[in-house]
Amino acid sequence: MLPKFSSRAFLAPMAGVSDPALRLQCKKFGAGLVVTEFTSIHSIVAKERHLRENQKTIQEFIQFSENERPLSVQLFGSDLIALEKGAKIVEPFFDIIDYNMGCPAPHITQQMAGGALLQETNLTQQIFSTLINSVKKPVTLKIRLGVTDASRYLFKEIAQIAEDEGIEMITLHPRTVNQGYSGEADWNMIKELKEISNIPIVGNGDITTPEDAKKMMDETNCDYVMIGRGAMGNPFLFEQINDYLKTGSYNHYSFKNRLDSFFEYLFLTKNYKIKFANIKGQAMRFTKGIKGGSKLRAKISLSKNISELEKIMKDALLVIK
Ligand SMILES: Cc1cc2nc3c(=O)[nH]c(=O)nc-3n(C[C@H](O)[C@H](O)[C@H](O)COP(=O)(O)O)c2cc1C
Repeated sequence: MLPKFSSRAFLAPMAGVSDPALRLQCKKFGAGLVVTEFTSIHSIVAKERHLRENQKTIQEFIQFSENERPLSVQLFGSDLIALEKGAKIVEPFFDIIDYNMGCPAPHITQQMAGGALLQETNLTQQIFSTLINSVKKPVTLKIRLGVTDASRYLFKEIAQIAEDEGIEMITLHPRTVNQGYSGEADWNMIKELKEISNIPIVGNGDITTPEDAKKMMDETNCDYVMIGRGAMGNPFLFEQINDYLKTGSYNHYSFKNRLDSFFEYLFLTKNYKIKFANIKGQAMRFTKGIKGGSKLRAKISLSKNISELEKIMKDALLVIK
């Protein structure tokens, strides 16, 4: 059974972005669910063996904290043996196991994983039944529409198989794999999925404001919304959405608040091993829209370590209003 969610707004899994520090921040601002970056089932199996030999657990590899709960772990990869092993390894640590069938990146689709699976109904059915039979925790699914424009209704068949096999919730990012991130997310497809489904549907795609979140809920009747890029460098969005849904208004945050919030993010990263390149990427996102932001980002990109980055951001904080 799915856990209870404190909000209808979820943070999307984003490789290199939704690290445990950002997830914790979004959680503090009221995200109902956070999801780890997607992780290969093969890496999980290989790492676990190595970690076990050193009396450690998979938590060293997929980092998280208790304060993130309910917490979902996202897996990718279609080898059924590795899938069973990988799911069993992560199960004790997470509340939900999410399966990725949306990633459009060629290095993922070429290994018959991510979005490529949408056109493989037989294999997909086996993947779902393997997952459901391997673990007792709820299994959820994240999909795109289809692969090409001609196959943009594949999601309906996949959703039906998922429901029949016991998947408990589906997130739809209504673009095709070939679309990547171009064009607009077709929210009508979320509505159509909701109409044929008996399990909760999470709508995803192009939400950047509280108004967008409410509009998606109103237009599609989805149960929850999931936010990716709109929450980058902007963890406030969850509080704003929750307030807007409840009261019709919300707090606005200044650029100074955003920079302050970057320092909070930085403070949280100290508890985890996060690549410096990723932290730099986060710093850039927290400066999005700030006056003189492109110059600031040029400086950020040249920083070589945390203390250089910290100095650049502190200097920016002194001049920002
Ligand atoms: C940098 C980046 C990394 C992403 N990584 C993942 C991932 O690991 N797993 C996944 O299911 N989706 C991933 N996505 C897709 C998002 O979860 C989401 O479906 C997509 O960005 C659309 O939502 P948005 O318009 O709110 O950003 C990623 C997106 C971005 C921009």
